[in-house]
Amino acid sequence: MHPCIKLKVYRSPPIAPSSHNTILITGCSSGIGRCVAEGLKTRGYRVFASARKAKDVEALAAAGFEALSLDLADSESIDAAVAEVKKLTDGSLYALFNNGAYGQPGAVEDLCREVLREQFESNFFGTHQLTRAVLPMMLAQGRGRIIQNSSVLGFVALAYRGAYTATKYALEGLSDTLRLELAGTGVHVSLIEPGPIDSRFRENAFAAYKRNIDAQSSRHHTRYAAMERRLGASEAPTPFTLPPEAVLKRVIHALESRRPRPRYYVTFPTYLFAVLKRLLPHRLMDRVLRGAEGER
Ligand SMILES: NC(=O)c1ccc[n+]([C@@H]2O[C@H](COP(=O)([O-])OP(=O)(O)OC[C@H]3O[C@@H](n4cnc5c(N)ncnc54)[C@H](OP(=O)(O)O)[C@@H]3O)[C@@H](O)[C@H]2O)c1
Repeated sequence: MHPCIKLKVYRSPPIAPSSHNTILITGCSSGIGRCVAEGLKTRGYRVFASARKAKDVEALAAAGFEALSLDLADSESIDAAVAEVKKLTDGSLYALFNNGAYGQPGAVEDLCREVLREQFESNFFGTHQLTRAVLPMMLAQGRGRIIQNSSVLGFVALAYRGAYTATKYALEGLSDTLRLELAGTGVHVSLIEPGPIDSRFRENAFAAYKRNIDAQSSRHHTRYAAMERRLGASEAPTPFTLPPEAVLKRVIHALESRRPRPRYYVTFPTYLFAVLKRLLPHRLMDRVLRGAEGER
């Protein structure tokens, strides 16, 4: 096209929530999942809010959600939840928000195979199984949205987050591939990449650390002591932390825009690291990332 020709961009109107309004969300016991479930319900969506613990499923039901039990580390529970959603929607689920996950802190050399496997079962394999299970409903309707809650750690690494970072990089790779394969089907895949968000993430990561990392016998024990102080501190949020509503805003766009974005950055650190990753040589980027180590 000639450089003097200016393209006029027309924004098409968003899709009305009422005509595309069913969504299944994982990990609704707290944090982002709970906030997005509430926000979408208020907006008129029919929200299937899931959690893995019975007490959380009960609390969701008591709060007025169509609540489901779904543990991403348990294949049978995924199948049962999808069967229930199929029945309740007559096979017409519009969207899936793959949100449930946890962080397993620890140096890569201190992660045994079983601990790494557990991390992948919840954050990656379960998410994949669930996505495959709901996809036929979306394909049959010729429309649907798959929204993946990734992380800034889905495209940059930080020390002592190797297990979690590996699952989010894997999720990014799978989602990018899936998006290519679904082109033209009416089913869209979007990745959300939050930086620090106010939730129970840190508390849950600390529990996983205490469960699975033998700090005393590690050569990283000094760094672990600092990590324990940081993860155990209930106050003092990480700089640039945003409330989970910042993610809700992107989820709404990914659901209602006629052209949902492949990626949504959330928080200043995500924007910053995305730019730096493009600009800096690897060694310099490593220095920046080593400096940012305590920030998540
Ligand atoms: N908070 C952040 O700074 C941040 C930044 C980037 C990305 N994220 C992503 O945001 C998502 C939500 O995290 P959050 O910040 O809201 O933390 P959160 O408050 O800890 O919530 C995580 C949710 O995932 C659930 N979950 C964990 N393992 C699960 C499994 N096997 N099956 C089903 N659910 C499971 C948790 O359930 P239980 O209550 O039963 O443990 C909880 O409901 C995650 O994908 C996380 O990676 C968070």
